[in-house]
Amino acid sequence: MNLDAHDSVRPILWRDGALWLIDQRLLPHRNEQVVCRDVGTVAEAIRNMTVRGAPAIGIAAAYGVVLAARDRFDAAPGSWREDIEEDLQTLAGTRPTAVNLFWAINRMRTAIADCTGGPGVRLLEEARAIHEADIADNRRMGQLGAALIETPCAVLTHCNAGSLATGGFGTALGVIRAGYVTDRIRRVYADETRPWLQGARLTAWELLEDRIPVTLVAEGAGAYLMKQGEVGWLIVGSDRIAANGDVANKIGTYGAAIIARHHGVKVMVVAPTSTIDMSTPDGGAIPIETRREEELLALAGQGIAAPGARAWNPVFDVTPAGLVDAIVTEKGVVLAPNATRMAALMKS
Ligand code: MRU
Repeated sequence: MNLDAHDSVRPILWRDGALWLIDQRLLPHRNEQVVCRDVGTVAEAIRNMTVRGAPAIGIAAAYGVVLAARDRFDAAPGSWREDIEEDLQTLAGTRPTAVNLFWAINRMRTAIADCTGGPGVRLLEEARAIHEADIADNRRMGQLGAALIETPCAVLTHCNAGSLATGGFGTALGVIRAGYVTDRIRRVYADETRPWLQGARLTAWELLEDRIPVTLVAEGAGAYLMKQGEVGWLIVGSDRIAANGDVANKIGTYGAAIIARHHGVKVMVVAPTSTIDMSTPDGGAIPIETRREEELLALAGQGIAAPGARAWNPVFDVTPAGLVDAIVTEKGVVLAPNATRMAALMKS
């Protein structure tokens, strides 16, 4: 399987002692990078969606800790390991739902505790390890997930769970890359994904960059699309999976999963085990981020709603485990997820 031919996008780079992020707010019209030379800039990049997607946020935060350690050590070599806790809290306060953020910060916290003297190369090694493992895990999940598609079909995806949302290759889009290469996937439909348009702007851009054709649909078209019978699988990523298999993902995923079940379309959630939060018992305990009203009331800075209208803008929802046919992780596949099967996966 030649996956390399369809895997060119890398949103996060460590170069010359700084973190370089593709500015995802500007895609698809401009492909520019933001250079982060301190932890404050990294935190702001996560908050303002320069970098987004659960695994990508975690990786960016890990490099943010490297930058923080450098500055804290230069300022106070004797107390940098205590002083840096403030920076870890700043990073943790950027976005609440994607658990990969807290997972990555905790890994870096453990690495800090391992450092004797200064941060040296230890923290950069840890951030690089998180980054490289993410790409390798995505490739493995791509193959595991594609193998579940027994009958060639069209698929529908929501938001962007691709290279741009990870270190590279993507989770849901990793399965789509592998399924496309092996002729299991005949056509890719992508929801446009209001209000940030991750589907229309990001999923479409990265698939076309990698020469995979894509057809956009408005979210409202999902039910009618699935009624046609062409779509065999809804394939999505996740920001946090609870211990019972409930799945938090971009707002709209829950509705799409209900529609999928109604039409006999299977639902595949693709996420590394760093997205699984065994300390969250079920979806009701997952913190759901609500963002500014203006994100819904305007598009590209242009007001679109009747002046004076208010908006409610939750940006994630929870799909109950009962609507999920398969959770694909780098450790293996959980079919019909529940608490027992999730626990067995995490112990394996
Ligand atoms: O608000 P975003 O763009 O960070 O939300 C991203 C998603 O919901 C993705 O579907 C999810 O993080 C999976 S990414 C591999």
